[in-house]
Amino acid sequence: MIYLNGEWKPIEQATVPVLDRGFVFGDGVYEVIPCYSGHPFRLREHLRRLQSSLDGVRIENPCSTERWEELIREVVKRNPFEDQYVYLQVTRGVAPRDHAFPKGVEPTVFMMSNPLTVPPPDQRERGVAAVTVADNRWLRCDIKSVSLLANCLLRQSAVDAGAAESVLLRDGFLTEGSASNIFVIRSGVIITPPKSNFILPGITYDVVIELARANRLPLEIRPVSEAEVRDADELWLTSSTKEVLPISTLDGKPVGHGTSAGKPGPMAARMYQLYQDYKRTVMRAPADAQA
Ligand code: PDD
Repeated sequence: MIYLNGEWKPIEQATVPVLDRGFVFGDGVYEVIPCYSGHPFRLREHLRRLQSSLDGVRIENPCSTERWEELIREVVKRNPFEDQYVYLQVTRGVAPRDHAFPKGVEPTVFMMSNPLTVPPPDQRERGVAAVTVADNRWLRCDIKSVSLLANCLLRQSAVDAGAAESVLLRDGFLTEGSASNIFVIRSGVIITPPKSNFILPGITYDVVIELARANRLPLEIRPVSEAEVRDADELWLTSSTKEVLPISTLDGKPVGHGTSAGKPGPMAARMYQLYQDYKRTVMRAPADAQA
């Protein structure tokens, strides 16, 4: 069951007018929220990022935080999957085609949930292939906009090269992945770029940083040069649906050094475990104490 503008219905019966600005202009924002055994993960943080995306594109938030929480729990309840990811999207609404904002138009609110299948153990143990690509997206990558054409093209260049993700470089520095954040491990230090308009402030990125701090793992949040990416001991990608996933080859070359080159490293295994432990504490909390 999906939610569309106040109604619950099977997805096959859900339609949006062709003049929806999401369709015509990609004029909208979205969120992807993982839910484990019915518990939305980091819900408050996702809703905070939604608010900041809405502010970034000047769409008024159509729901209060409480209403969003209610709707998200409802969509999870109405779908049978043990672990799910809720996709929600708000567009500026339906109006005659004109670039300038229409007046007095209600935003379109759409929400669906799908089974969440995190990367299987063999993929985590092998790691995935990635390729570097020039980051040619706009300069507001901090907004989780549905205008994802550039991200789609960047992801497709990875797929065309037989890889799972593209690692994006802008002016000689790492930004992020086409649909993930990237962490670089060098000499036991976890390094990742700071939040800026060049990257999406990932919810998983925040969790990984918090876990590194809580466990006193060496951490540096600072610009990461292309050379540091290419010479990393380990590379990880993080996202709500991939969690913490090691990258084992970059542009066809093994990531890392010595005998462990091309294999996921020990820090990835450690962070993955910390992430799973953290997830379990969240799942143990009563559903309405969740945020
Ligand atoms: N994408 N950077 C980009 C460009 C992303 O699209 C995503 C996530 C992330 C990671 O953010 P988070 O940890 O909050 O999932 C970083 C989602 C999963 C998607 O578009 O499907």
